Amino acid sequence: MNLASSCWAAHERLQLDPANQMIEMAFVRTDYMDKVKPILVTGGSGFIGSNFVLHRLSEFDNPIVNLDKLTYAGNPNNLVSVAADPRYTFVHGDICDAPLIAQLLKEHRPSALVHFAAESHVDRSILGPDAFLKTNIDGTFTLLQAAKADYESLRGEEKIAFRFLHVSTDEVYGTLSPTDSAFRENTPYAPNSPYAASKAASDHLVRAWGHTYDLPTLITNCSNNYGPFQFPEKLIPLTIVNALRGKPLPIYGDGQQVRDWLYVEDHCSAISTILAKGSIGECYNIGGNNQHTKIKAVQAVCTLLDELAPNTENCPHGRLITCVKDRPGHDRRYAIDAHKIQCDLGWFPRQSFEAGLRKTVQWYLRNLNWIEDVATGAYKQWLHENYAERNNGGACA
Ligand code: NAD
Ligand code: DAU
Repeated sequence: MNLASSCWAAHERLQLDPANQMIEMAFVRTDYMDKVKPILVTGGSGFIGSNFVLHRLSEFDNPIVNLDKLTYAGNPNNLVSVAADPRYTFVHGDICDAPLIAQLLKEHRPSALVHFAAESHVDRSILGPDAFLKTNIDGTFTLLQAAKADYESLRGEEKIAFRFLHVSTDEVYGTLSPTDSAFRENTPYAPNSPYAASKAASDHLVRAWGHTYDLPTLITNCSNNYGPFQFPEKLIPLTIVNALRGKPLPIYGDGQQVRDWLYVEDHCSAISTILAKGSIGECYNIGGNNQHTKIKAVQAVCTLLDELAPNTENCPHGRLITCVKDRPGHDRRYAIDAHKIQCDLGWFPRQSFEAGLRKTVQWYLRNLNWIEDVATGAYKQWLHENYAERNNGGACA
């Protein structure tokens, strides 16, 4: 069955389903609550979180409360454009702080908690997994307990409206061979890195709190994001920043690992769609329909830099590509089957990889100060820890 006809089948199912009343209720909820009630966001000063806060404030009326610990990955500069917006409140704090979470839920009475906060970088999880277990597992547990206690005290429309949306990753499904089918929502979990294992554990907790305590949960599992405000430890911003500085562009292993690249604005719009229309207790995969090898992504960045920043001694930037020792346990391929969110909720990614990458490179070129601000001593220390031992260990084509 092709996508159009299977979407049509899903549509017909909805028409015939007496439980359609649930869908009507969801629309009532959207109309009544979402316009006026705040959303509590965790990790809103990080890469995806800050894009989400900006997306919400530009396209919706809800106030946003952003709880962020401001780890190395959290950056208040990302949200400087909305800092004076009366709808925006920043709270500096830790998702492991149970009394703080309880107080925020009581004080702001949010219609949703959207949970981005996490330790998110695979290489860091390999060199130091402790923080990953603490934030990703204990932190999610703390949020769930606080949300459960608060939810039990809600009545009427407030209770109907509330959602706990947990932002997770496709890495929980493990790795694919080049010919395997893409990850579906029912693909068995097989996390390979400490990061992926900690996210898988958090997903299981969210699922259990929904199943056992009737907390209205939603889980999203998405592929590799790229776009503005991404910390330059991840492949695409690292490539841009290193290339602009004439530094080596490190390619782990043979460079043939495949990722499904998702422009961050598409991810944000998917989360808003799921918040508004997702079915309680469901998981939704989110992907960009953009599977490319890593070496192709890096070469594409170099070509764009040759065009957009031609007057430097670093051109052609592709000559900086350097093969280095592989990441231990490196997953070969991720690919998302996004059929469910497309058919059930009508969401599709809008950016092609080419257009999204061009916007991304242009954003970094326009925001060289942002790069300078994040490339502090701690960042340089990380580059040393992660890359010093890798040099000359790779064999990419
Ligand atoms: P990021 O590392 O850029 O940002 C994480 C944010 O969480 C930072 O602002 C940080 O200060 C905050 N934070 C960390 N620990 C905290 C704590 N204990 N309490 C409060 N705040 C804390 O991460 P990202 O790339 O924006 O990812 C956001 C979420 O999306 C994560 O849950 C990640 O697992 C998931 N995800 C990311 C990608 C991706 O490609 N970046 C893909 C799939 C899923
Ligand atoms: O798939 C979703 C995941 O995508 C998210 O859950 C993670 O939070 C996010 O960090 C990302 O994980 P990856 O490990 O896929 O992303 P990263 O940018 O670290 O690496 C992308 C690919 O590039 C991967 O194959 C490793 C490789 N790589 C990465 C770096 C940093 C290199 O070859 N060289 C590098 O220097």
